[in-house]
Amino acid sequence: MIDKIKQYIDAVVSCELTKFDELENFRIQYIGKKGLIPVLFNDFKTVAPEDRKEVGILLNNLKNAVQDKITQVKNLLESLETDSGHYIDLFMPVQAEAGSRHPLSIIRNKITDIFSRIGFTVADGPEIEDDWHNFTALNFPEEHPARDMQDTFFIEKKPDIALRTHTSSVQVRVMESQKPPIRSIFPGRVFRNEAISARAHCIFHQVEGLYIDKNVSFADLKQTLMYFAKEMFGENTGIRLRPSYFPFTEPSAEMDISCHICGGKGCNICKYTGWVEILGCGMVDPNVLQSNGIDPDEYTGFAFGMGIERITMLKFQIKDLRLFFENDLKFLRQFEASIT
Ligand code: PHE
Repeated sequence: MIDKIKQYIDAVVSCELTKFDELENFRIQYIGKKGLIPVLFNDFKTVAPEDRKEVGILLNNLKNAVQDKITQVKNLLESLETDSGHYIDLFMPVQAEAGSRHPLSIIRNKITDIFSRIGFTVADGPEIEDDWHNFTALNFPEEHPARDMQDTFFIEKKPDIALRTHTSSVQVRVMESQKPPIRSIFPGRVFRNEAISARAHCIFHQVEGLYIDKNVSFADLKQTLMYFAKEMFGENTGIRLRPSYFPFTEPSAEMDISCHICGGKGCNICKYTGWVEILGCGMVDPNVLQSNGIDPDEYTGFAFGMGIERITMLKFQIKDLRLFFENDLKFLRQFEASIT
């Protein structure tokens, strides 16, 4: 009986109770009407007289250990109780799910990675811009429609402060603060006053590229973009440049890639043309270099700008741009496997 009581004492001291119902079961088990301790006290009558002293002391110790345990656990559980009457279960196993990157971040990181491998650094600029950085220094004529309220979210008129409509504003910031050679990309968020649809949003993301040095040519631009297209969409990707117009580049072009879904044969992604447009580009207009304190007789450069949403939609075959902004977990979880 002595050994048995000693074992009970050990069990009581080391047992862990984390909830009120566990505590109640413990109480019933030891000091309930038919609990262990009343039973042991009953058996005490049968203990030999010479053992009575030791057994008596041990039995009292056991009873005190049970009482102490009950008070101690009760105090702890009550201290965890909140105002609403629920107690915080500090012993509950953690069920946190691992997060994953947003598809736009995955593609932005991939673009940054591709350009950093050929020596482009990353820079950024403010999302709230003045007229000079977003338009004037980029050779936008005074009456250019992009300056219109219809396209631009103005914060203040006179002086014009607006949400930047493209990351080309960062070209100006970088030219102001750095001397050539300049070789950088600028990822960032841009804003345009557009109706939201499957193909357009008032907030979207761009990556701008700028390269200024002596003797930079259109061939350098083409080679850089060809490298990018193959790295992003695969070795067999072809590119084609179509003449276009931007106030800040001359000549200007839009670049298409051969459709990576059908390989150029024609499908609904490329609207049966075999080509999809991915970016605008051109040689930096000498007026822009001049406005930003770079001598156009000494330096030339190229610039390009692409929409991250567009590239992400092509890469992952996403049909509706609004999905990027809704934060629906059913959509986002599909990208868990992509870790970059
Ligand atoms: N800023 C242009 C746009 O938003 C893209 C562009 C960037 C074109 C650089 C040429 C050079 O459409």
